[in-house]
Amino acid sequence: MIKIISPFIILETLNTQMVFEIKPFADFNSDFHKGKSYIIQRHYGKKNDADDLKVSEPQINRGGSCEDYNTDTRISSSVGDGNNREPSIILDTKENSYTSRFYYKNAEIVKGGVALEGPHARHVKESLIISEEDEVSGVEVQHIYSIFEDTDVIVVKTKLINHGDDLKINRLYSLELPIRSKKFDVYSFDGRWLKERIRHKSEITCGTFVIESIVGSSSHKHNPFIEVFDHKNKHYYGFNLIYSGNHKEVVDVDPSYYSRVLVGINDFCFAYEVKKGESFVTPEAVMVIGDSLDDITSEMHRFTMNHIINPDFQNKARPIIFNNWEGTGMRIDEQSLLDMAKIASSVGVEQFVVDDGWFRNRIDDKNGLGDWEVDTNKFPDGLGSFVDKVRALGLKFGLWVEPEMICLKSDLYKKHPEFASIIPGREPVERRRQVMIDMANPKVVDYLFDCLSKVFDEAKPDYVKWDYNRFMTDNYSSIGINKGEYMHRFIVGAYSLMDRLNKKYPNILFESCSSGGGRYDLGMFYYMPQTWGSDDSNSCWRSFITCGTLAGYPQSTFGAHVSRDGNPFPEGGRSSLEDRFNINCLGAFGYEFDFRTFKQKELDIMAKQIEFYKKHRELLQFGQYQVLDNCFDDERYFGYIVVSQNKDEAMMMVAELAPHVPSKIWIAKGLDPNSDYRIVMRPQYNLKKEQILDAVVSGKELMEKGLNLGELYSTNDKELYSGIYSRLLYLKKV
Ligand code: DGJ
Repeated sequence: MIKIISPFIILETLNTQMVFEIKPFADFNSDFHKGKSYIIQRHYGKKNDADDLKVSEPQINRGGSCEDYNTDTRISSSVGDGNNREPSIILDTKENSYTSRFYYKNAEIVKGGVALEGPHARHVKESLIISEEDEVSGVEVQHIYSIFEDTDVIVVKTKLINHGDDLKINRLYSLELPIRSKKFDVYSFDGRWLKERIRHKSEITCGTFVIESIVGSSSHKHNPFIEVFDHKNKHYYGFNLIYSGNHKEVVDVDPSYYSRVLVGINDFCFAYEVKKGESFVTPEAVMVIGDSLDDITSEMHRFTMNHIINPDFQNKARPIIFNNWEGTGMRIDEQSLLDMAKIASSVGVEQFVVDDGWFRNRIDDKNGLGDWEVDTNKFPDGLGSFVDKVRALGLKFGLWVEPEMICLKSDLYKKHPEFASIIPGREPVERRRQVMIDMANPKVVDYLFDCLSKVFDEAKPDYVKWDYNRFMTDNYSSIGINKGEYMHRFIVGAYSLMDRLNKKYPNILFESCSSGGGRYDLGMFYYMPQTWGSDDSNSCWRSFITCGTLAGYPQSTFGAHVSRDGNPFPEGGRSSLEDRFNINCLGAFGYEFDFRTFKQKELDIMAKQIEFYKKHRELLQFGQYQVLDNCFDDERYFGYIVVSQNKDEAMMMVAELAPHVPSKIWIAKGLDPNSDYRIVMRPQYNLKKEQILDAVVSGKELMEKGLNLGELYSTNDKELYSGIYSRLLYLKKV
């Protein structure tokens, strides 16, 4: 609910409250501010925790000592407006100054939210528009906050409307959140290819802490999701941005307690021209406040599921996938794929996915990107006929594409060199032997829409894996786009292609991918309900990647496949087929092998795993996730639980991330304390019958005293692995 009770504006979610206060300027030596007001944030926290609203905050005294300049909790700040801290707005106007000074204009409540292009939060209950204006430059800035029926998440974006002369935006963040504290822990999710979203904890007591991407995409390096703990008020916060390009999250810690968090499009190489009469809208920042990291995780999961994911896929069971990539790479042809498909179907796989290598000229990674037509050397009767054969085996069909790239050795490049992002006179930087295609050029978007439509019309895929295998360089468009706009316009162009394809093919389940999980963000999830989590399927590393990813994103978004033991680096620790299943079964699950090389015994193990997964799929994909043992705090253990909404059933996964670590007691979470649960361990080929736990224990005991399973490495496997040892436990109320 949003209420305007002047001078206060109150915004309430289910459990939290944000209060703003409109305040007149006072005590000035000049008349400049006469009759003008500004707006501050009075409170953000639990409902009813706000201090007495009758007592006004002290006035800003800009004529006072220099200390005073910093002591307010405004929701936006600009250069030269008296705030001596990181501003959220930097404008380059005709005045030959970066200064702008925004005064409060008005506030308005909009039921059902404000229409938006591009990815955004769906099903808004109400929005609050707080407008500020700078009369001198003629710029109006709107801060648009939206709330929802079912979550404490608040989203906020900024809209700049230019009533004055042409200007450039050098910085316009989506969120500026004041927090009165000067000691924070920031949890960020960082990494690189094969090691995505590894949690790092940074203690910040002074200065400006920045998490950002400058490579054109949300990146492997730093995910836009961060968690913040405020030591003074004992609050936890979660922040994210619904955007797939360069992002920036800033925690600006002020020695006088007036700290703030800023979230938005990165201002790195950003200079966006807004002509008179035009406007610019930022992507939406996401924020939530809670009492624990678990609170932040569960709200972020709920928000992503209910307000980001396409409603047609929200609760739709994700199929079990077979993907050929880790087994064969590009060495494919119709017959070998059909041989694998037969085996996949016999073990119970539901969807057969042909990865990279199916299209013209794709003999290796130097060739072919852009030539989106089937390679008839590999598929002599065309894609349609091949897909019919796959379907005849009872399998759904999926296909890999990488539309935002082009190879210099492609027919497309020969025909349309201007489609590539290459700066005239400069040798382009090739990464993975490919260059970026110019998604900012509408003709490129049209071209891709037409040729992908042809492919989709012929193959009629149920699923498309949409890859993006490099970061951006040579930011350039042959159609003359301003250099400071290019990286943003690239993303906007890519979104427009995704949007058109989503609309034309509403039944296709898209899975985003970017050399593994390099674009794991809410922008991509708006168009593609799941993302391939990482090219690293080594169970040990996967535990860290899973744990980091699920801190901010729900498990149904997380593409997780079992592949070769120790893949890609055995030194990460090898583990049994059962342990690889236990780690990966929480997510959009599948296998990536050359099935033809498998013995019947291994296929039988997989068939049993698939049977188990199908039986518990809803719980595994959509149950309420909570981490039990966070492998970032103690690298030896990883455990989680997923609980059904009515708490009738749950699945617990517990893992020791090396052999011979001391056994531990696993404490459950989220169960009904007043009920008893029957616990049955998933049978594994490497466990003796007597090792399979089957017991009845109360929810209270499981959550207070926990479960002692002894040493997990004690299995009857002949081989002792260096990687993980794990168990899956199914709990059902009795
Ligand atoms: C990178 C992805 O992460 C892999 O799964 C695979 O699709 C390759 N690209 C194909 O080029």
